[in-house]
Amino acid sequence: MKHCWATRCIDRTGVAHWLSESSAERLGELWREADRVRHRRVGDQVHLRGLVEISNHCIRQCAYCGLRAANARVVRYRMTAGEILDSAGQALRLGYGTVVLQAGEDYGITAAWMAEVIRAIKGETGLAVTLSLGERRREELALWREAGADRYLLRFETSNRRLYERIHPTPAGRDDDRFTILAFLRALGYETGSGVMVGIPGQTIDDLAEDILTFGLLDLDMIGIGPFIPHPMTPLAARREHDASQVPADELTTCKSLALTRIFRPLANIPATTALATLDRHAGWRAGLSCGANVIMPNLTPAKYRALYEIYPDKACIYDDVQSNHDHIMELLASLGRTPGVGRGDSPVFTARAEKARAGQEVQ
Ligand code: 5AD
Repeated sequence: MKHCWATRCIDRTGVAHWLSESSAERLGELWREADRVRHRRVGDQVHLRGLVEISNHCIRQCAYCGLRAANARVVRYRMTAGEILDSAGQALRLGYGTVVLQAGEDYGITAAWMAEVIRAIKGETGLAVTLSLGERRREELALWREAGADRYLLRFETSNRRLYERIHPTPAGRDDDRFTILAFLRALGYETGSGVMVGIPGQTIDDLAEDILTFGLLDLDMIGIGPFIPHPMTPLAARREHDASQVPADELTTCKSLALTRIFRPLANIPATTALATLDRHAGWRAGLSCGANVIMPNLTPAKYRALYEIYPDKACIYDDVQSNHDHIMELLASLGRTPGVGRGDSPVFTARAEKARAGQEVQ
């Protein structure tokens, strides 16, 4: 029987079925449909975002992340403004349209200093600037937007609130959850990205199906999905007993999630993540790009800091130099019949929403 791909034909149960599918023939249908939707709706360009991990300090205690404050083994660093500008210059030279500045939740990065860095990057390079700096205060997010930041990434990690609370001890006195912050970012005019990890201990297939539906409800412009990779210095280091409802933290389930996400959010920018490449050095990015992804985020963090940004162990690209990683990506794209993105690579959902808003129409 031919499958009905219209998203209205697939509810949570349908998504959960796909996430549990094991027939190679049926999965072949899923990969083909996701690739077809990707090709028709966002084309063959793969947008390259230069990732600069500007600080590994973090005040949070997320149960999965190697940068959690309690991990005393991490040698902490914070890049200088000059170093960040040099890395942004490298993104420009390599022809990337965007620089992504990521850090732990680090209040040593003051709002005013960050605003200056954003202004300098915009002034010197004209690149699109994406921030991924955690749950910062509303005034700070607003200041950075005024300074010229274009996009903000904040993954909600899981839509299961109980699981979320178990893995994210929240400091006292915080009112905003990540969903509220995402809505606020959108209202400020940021292109807004979020996402989840696949295979968090305690995450069920129904949870992951709900995550994928939530991407649509949030009307996201960018959606990052990567496998959970245990870090030995975190509470989630230990492997769990096998439980039938547990989502496997593997390449197959990540690719199924990517493919369903592409089908549900045809115009979103979706990266083939570093975490996926970490599980499979040779073919992770290729797999992601073949089942719906249209973005890669090459790592431009200076070599001396790169291994210190250890959110999970053995991260892909820790030791690759920038140029050889770039060459590898170019070869990969050519072998897939894809081309490097030209320009900023804004999300078509964002552009369409902005145009409607300008025309004074209701934004859908
Ligand atoms: N495994 C996989 N992904 C992780 N992240 C953090 N720690 C891990 C881990 N152990 C992801 C989170 C975060 C992003 C920056 O990195 O989803 O939002």
